[in-house]
Amino acid sequence: MSNYTADESAADQPINGFKPSSSVEAFSLPATGDDLSRLSARGDFSMANGIPLEEMSDDDDEEEEVDEDYVAVDHADINEVPYWFRRPAVHQRTKLDNLHPFVQVLTVSNVDDCVSVETAFPEQERCTREKFVYRLDRCPELCLGLFTLPILGENQPKPRPTLIGHIVATRTSTPFVTDKSMELPANWQMERRTVENGETVGHDEYGSTIAIHSLAVLPEHQGKQVASTLMKSYIQRIREAQIAERISIISHDHLVPFYESFGFENRGPSNCQFGGGGWTNLVLDFI
Ligand SMILES: CC(C)(COP(=O)(O)OP(=O)(O)OC[C@H]1O[C@@H](n2cnc3c(N)ncnc32)[C@H](O)[C@@H]1OP(=O)(O)O)[C@@H](O)C(=O)NCCC(=O)NCCS
Repeated sequence: MSNYTADESAADQPINGFKPSSSVEAFSLPATGDDLSRLSARGDFSMANGIPLEEMSDDDDEEEEVDEDYVAVDHADINEVPYWFRRPAVHQRTKLDNLHPFVQVLTVSNVDDCVSVETAFPEQERCTREKFVYRLDRCPELCLGLFTLPILGENQPKPRPTLIGHIVATRTSTPFVTDKSMELPANWQMERRTVENGETVGHDEYGSTIAIHSLAVLPEHQGKQVASTLMKSYIQRIREAQIAERISIISHDHLVPFYESFGFENRGPSNCQFGGGGWTNLVLDFI
C-alpha cells in the first residue's frame, strides 16, 4: 500500500523504498537518463556535461549553499590537463641556482680547497691543514663539500669545480663534541687509535656520534643558502645511511637558531675550550 498522496509528484515517490533525501524542498533525484531529459525539456533545470547549470531560481528563499572549495571543471579543456601538470614549477632563480651547485663527498685531494674555505673562520677557530689531511684520510665519508661549476661556452676548457662550502666531521663515542675529539693524534699515521685518559683522541671509528668540527662557506658566497643546502643534504645522507645515532656540533649563540631550524636541540654550554670556548652543544638525535 502506498503511503503518499495523489497530489505528490512522481519525483517525490520513494526510489527502491527510500525517500530521496534533499535539503531543498521539491527537489528530487532523477532516477534515469530519461527522467533527466524530461526534466530538462520541461525547463525545470538545464544540464551541461551532467552538471546542473541552474538549480534554483534567484527569488527562491532557500538558496543552495555553494561549497567554497568547489571548482568548476570545463570538460572541454580536459585533454589539456596533462599539459598543465607537465609544465615546470614556477621557480624564481636564486643566487644558489646561479652557482650550478652540486654536493660531493670530500677526499684528501680536496685538502687545499678546504684550507681555503676554512678562512671563513676567525684565525683561532680554523682547522689546520694537518687536521684536514688527517680527517679526510680517516673518514672522508663523513665530509661533504658543495661545489660550483660554471656553465662553459664552446671550446672553453673544463675548469676544476670550486669548493665553496664544506662540512668536515669525525666520529666520537661521547654524545657531544669534545676537545679530545677535535685534537690531532700525535702519531696517527702509525697508530690506528690513540686513547688518552680513557677517551679516544681524534676520530673514534667505533663512535656512534658524528661530531661536526667545521661548517664553513667561502666569504664571497655567504648569504646564498649554501650552508643550509649543505647541512640539509648532509643530514639526509647520514639519516638514510643509518650510520650514526646522532650528529653533534658546537656553535656560538648567534647560530643556535640556524641549527635548531634543522632539528638540532640546544643542550646547553659545551665544555670545549677550543678557540677560546664559549660554545653551545647542539645535538640532532636519530634514535
Ligand atoms: C655560518 C655560515 C656557515 C653560514 O653560511 P651561509 O651559506 O651564509 O648560510 P645561509 O645562506 O645558508 O644562511 C641561512 C641562515 O643562516 C642564518 N645565518 C647565517 N649566517 C648567520 C650569522 N652570521 N649570524 C646569524 N645567523 C646567520 C640565517 O638565519 C640565514 O637565514 P637567512 O638567509 O634567511 O637570513 C657562514 O657564515 C660561515 O662560514 N661563517 C664562518 C664559519 C662559521 O662560523 N661556521 C659555523 C660554525 S658553528
